[in-house]
Amino acid sequence: MSDIKQIVLVVGARPNFMKAAPLIAALQNKSNIFKITLIHTGQHYDHNLSQLFFDDLQMPESDIYLGVGSGTHAEQTAEVMIQLEKQLLIINPDLVIVFGDINSTLATAVVTAKLKMKLAHVEAGLRSFDMTMPEEVNRIVTDRLSHFHFVTEQSGVENLKREGVKESSIYLTGNIMIDSLVITKKRISHSDILTKLNLAEKSYYCLTMHRPSNVDNKEKLEKFLKAFQTISEKTPIIFPCHPRTLKMIEQFGLSAFTKSENFRFVEPLGYLDFLSLMAQSKAVITDSGGIQGDTTFLRIPCLTIRSNTEQPVTVSEGTNTLCSDDIELLLAMISNIETGSYKQGKVPEFWDGKSAERVVEIIEKSI
Ligand code: UD1
Repeated sequence: MSDIKQIVLVVGARPNFMKAAPLIAALQNKSNIFKITLIHTGQHYDHNLSQLFFDDLQMPESDIYLGVGSGTHAEQTAEVMIQLEKQLLIINPDLVIVFGDINSTLATAVVTAKLKMKLAHVEAGLRSFDMTMPEEVNRIVTDRLSHFHFVTEQSGVENLKREGVKESSIYLTGNIMIDSLVITKKRISHSDILTKLNLAEKSYYCLTMHRPSNVDNKEKLEKFLKAFQTISEKTPIIFPCHPRTLKMIEQFGLSAFTKSENFRFVEPLGYLDFLSLMAQSKAVITDSGGIQGDTTFLRIPCLTIRSNTEQPVTVSEGTNTLCSDDIELLLAMISNIETGSYKQGKVPEFWDGKSAERVVEIIEKSI
């Protein structure tokens, strides 16, 4: 009988890919121990949100593509569950690994638990304490159903302990996304995004915004767009715009903003180009989770247009400031950045590019 362990990794949307890539590589290095099956749910299907990331992160093609696409939360989650169950029954893995907090993560966790299979959650324990965010619901349910909790920062360990998670299942292994960043940063010179956009280093801000709480409400969205237009009069803003945001801008009749000269809307970028754009910017304005971590590692100022964060270490130790939708605060921080008085920050413990190795070591010993 073979001792090879069958591991299924499930990914679905953009923020999953950079977390999975280093772990896939580390597991493949031990092909005498692990056989991996990569399942892509197809939650994100646009080339720029999916395939481009597989290419940039040098990830293998998925072995199984479920093609679930968009829908309401229930539709999307249910579709992943129905299709994934069939696949897991065939593969009968020793371990299923999920990442982050997207609907595909939640769906996989529920299916795995009902099939009484073992589940590992990479990026466990993070909490925004905001149950109106779909991601918070996804995180809590996934953690409750996981047998291995791989955590990026100390706050996550505390959260899990407080929720009664068995301490022996909690491992502070660091921020696995930084593994991808460290590897890809070496290839940053391969990106010609600054030339393409005719930008000089440190002459612009980079913006991302797609959270339902920011873009699904017309007044709030318009308030942000106006503020960005004002800021961009002094320093250009480059905005790789997520399809959901563009859809809402069009729906609310706010498309005039997309034609601004200095507030520049561009297509969503791949990992290498976005990393290059971010690393050479003056600062980043965002409502993304991952980018708060990336900017802390890169020591680039990050102004987060949310009132909470699931990664408090990026505020307490890193370069992040929570600005919520307080435009005055945002402008005050921009002024600090312009005058060079914004905080420098430091890189948190275990954000060193070796998280995947630590995760694999633990899996090897435990299954
Ligand atoms: C999802 C994640 C979010 C993550 C984000 C990164 C959940 C609950 N949310 O949000 O945590 O930060 O991905 O992008 O899982 N769309 C396209 N093309 C695509 C995918 C989506 O046009 O390839 C549009 C569709 O109109 C879709 C909408 O974006 O309805 C939302 O997509 P969805 O995957 O449901 O959530 P995101 O907002 O992308």
